[in-house]
Amino acid sequence: MQVLNAGLIGYKFMGRAHSNAFRQVNHFFDSKAKIGLKSICGRDGEAVSKAALKFGFESYDTDWKTLIKRDDIDFVDITAPGNMHREIALMAAAKKKHIFCEKPLAMNAREAKEMWIAAEAAGIRHQVGFNYRFVPAIRLAKRLIDEGKIGTIYHFRALYLQDWIVDPAFPLVWRLDKKIAGSGANGDINAHLIDLARYLLGDIERVSGLQKTFIKKRPMVDMMDGLRATGVDSSTYGDVTVDDASLFLAEFKSGALGSFEATRFASGRKNGMSFEINGSNGSIRFEFERMNELLYYNNEDPSYQRGFKLISATEPEHDYAGNWWPPGHIIGYEHTFVHEMFEFVQAMADGSNASPDFKDGYECCRILDAVDKSAAEREWVNV
Ligand SMILES: NC(=O)c1ccc[n+]([C@@H]2O[C@H](COP(=O)([O-])OP(=O)(O)OC[C@H]3O[C@@H](n4cnc5c(N)ncnc54)[C@H](O)[C@@H]3O)[C@@H](O)[C@H]2O)c1
Repeated sequence: MQVLNAGLIGYKFMGRAHSNAFRQVNHFFDSKAKIGLKSICGRDGEAVSKAALKFGFESYDTDWKTLIKRDDIDFVDITAPGNMHREIALMAAAKKKHIFCEKPLAMNAREAKEMWIAAEAAGIRHQVGFNYRFVPAIRLAKRLIDEGKIGTIYHFRALYLQDWIVDPAFPLVWRLDKKIAGSGANGDINAHLIDLARYLLGDIERVSGLQKTFIKKRPMVDMMDGLRATGVDSSTYGDVTVDDASLFLAEFKSGALGSFEATRFASGRKNGMSFEINGSNGSIRFEFERMNELLYYNNEDPSYQRGFKLISATEPEHDYAGNWWPPGHIIGYEHTFVHEMFEFVQAMADGSNASPDFKDGYECCRILDAVDKSAAEREWVNV
């Protein structure tokens, strides 16, 4: 069987999630190709060599340019922070390597468009890491919508609630630095809601945003890793240059109305991503922390039986579920990455378009930029 060799850039939060996914695709899915764990890249030789050993990579590189130039790498997987995405993707496209890139695709829509055009021109497969599209219960929501079960959609109401920086003593990690992250709650977590909204309802016409940075200065830090930091220097403070919370109202091209709230200041909420969709024939509700379940309300049920029905999306008929365990033997966060990598391997193996691709990443960035602009200018902005 064909083996497609991975060159993974980054070995922390998403690096761990993706390298685990590579192994699980080979183990659980009948994909058209296997993934080879060829090389992993990070700047610290000692740390990345340990990661290579732990995750099962054959080799490691300390310079991403060296990794991209290798003849034995078929695809590049970018899990470095946002400020690195464009440069890495442009070089990978020039070298005709397929690219998987974490979200948000780029620092802004201009960069994202450049990446999309370069990838298309190179004729490579490209995918962006909107992993929530690959939750079986969310696939079921899409199916119910496409089958007309919800009817005409009036409302999309979405929340992404976290609390990891509510403590003012929490340090200035890279996610709070605009030069590295591009934006705060907007690009980090609104990006997921926006992609789901586009996946389920289609494009957004215009937005009205509201953003706030509640804590404007935080202690400097030596080392940062995902959502954690070590070596905090509480005597030196630096500026937080991104939004702590980003909310917006939206009008979809379909005419539906949307409301979105992304915050890192919702005490008690850890990864509280949820949405509700209301249509002429019924409603759908989803909460990520109960990700195997979908709630479905059907207006056509006899009134004495009406109510939200809880569907466990673990039957073989539910997307991806049959590759795992018997019904009711639930799956978790890491499985979303396995599913997205499975789809990416299929696209690379048969030359079909991957989805969501860099065009989707670009469309998401256009909406993120419009929300930033609207919040800054305090007026509605057309996307
Ligand atoms: N899909 C999701 O749900 C999800 C979740 C978290 C993060 N992300 C995205 O993934 C990306 C990375 O986030 P993370 O949480 O994994 O960050 P992280 O801080 O945990 O890891 C970043 C990695 O990038 C590496 N890196 C940074 N600069 C580099 C360089 N110049 N050369 C080589 N390696 C370099 C670091 O060594 C580290 O291994 C971001 O775009 C983020 O938005 C997506």
